[in-house]
Amino acid sequence: MKKLMAANWKMYKTAEEARTTAEELVRLVGDVPADREVLVIPPFTALSAVAGAFSHGGAFYLGAQNFYPAEEGAFTGEISPRMLKDACCTYALAGHSERRHVLGEDDAFVGSKVEFGLAQGLRMILCVGEKIEERRAGQVESVLRRQLEKGLAGVARDISTEDIVIAYEPVWAIGTGEVAGPEEIVHAHAFVRKILVEIFGARGNEIRIQYGGSVKPANCAEILALDNVDGVLVGGASLQADSFSRIVKA
Ligand code: G3P
Repeated sequence: MKKLMAANWKMYKTAEEARTTAEELVRLVGDVPADREVLVIPPFTALSAVAGAFSHGGAFYLGAQNFYPAEEGAFTGEISPRMLKDACCTYALAGHSERRHVLGEDDAFVGSKVEFGLAQGLRMILCVGEKIEERRAGQVESVLRRQLEKGLAGVARDISTEDIVIAYEPVWAIGTGEVAGPEEIVHAHAFVRKILVEIFGARGNEIRIQYGGSVKPANCAEILALDNVDGVLVGGASLQADSFSRIVKA
């Protein structure tokens, strides 16, 4: 399975800044290694600019940070999957820690987005991960189990496995410079894999599991070599083309 190397630009970059960075990224990466896919997830207002930079084709994909799970309607301020597909998005995130813990989204709402996004033809990246107090209280597995079971509750058991990606992002490692240690990553990813097999049977082994949380060029190769790490989801270190291109090729 191809490793998914994803850049989450969060609430950074104007359209022009995003276009410049995406063009530089395409130039620096050159041919994407055959065993990898590159995904950039810019703010909504920069989707079109990044789509333009990726229009040559190749293994560069575009994704969305969020959407509202309805086809259309009176939902002021929201964006639908249909609009995202129209804007050339292949992937979308659901359950990112900032949406759970800053914007107050709960497991049921995250699950409804995963289900609806898939039904609308988007590939969904379900983000999961524990807070530091949950880790200290020995609750890593129970938190991951709850987020996965509720996040995937509406997903058909025979779904095409490339349409679902899980991103394990321990909240305490996001934007802190404090990357999870190899043992913590291996343990969490093995547990996520176990739940995926419980839910999807043997096909759960084909679902990609990304790691996210303070990934940088200097630590990326080591993280990618760990068991059950099928890609990375990168915030801060993805904002510069030079740094993210080194991650893509790590
Ligand atoms: O979605 C990516 C993310 O939350 C990790 O952010 O800045 O720690 O790489 P960062």
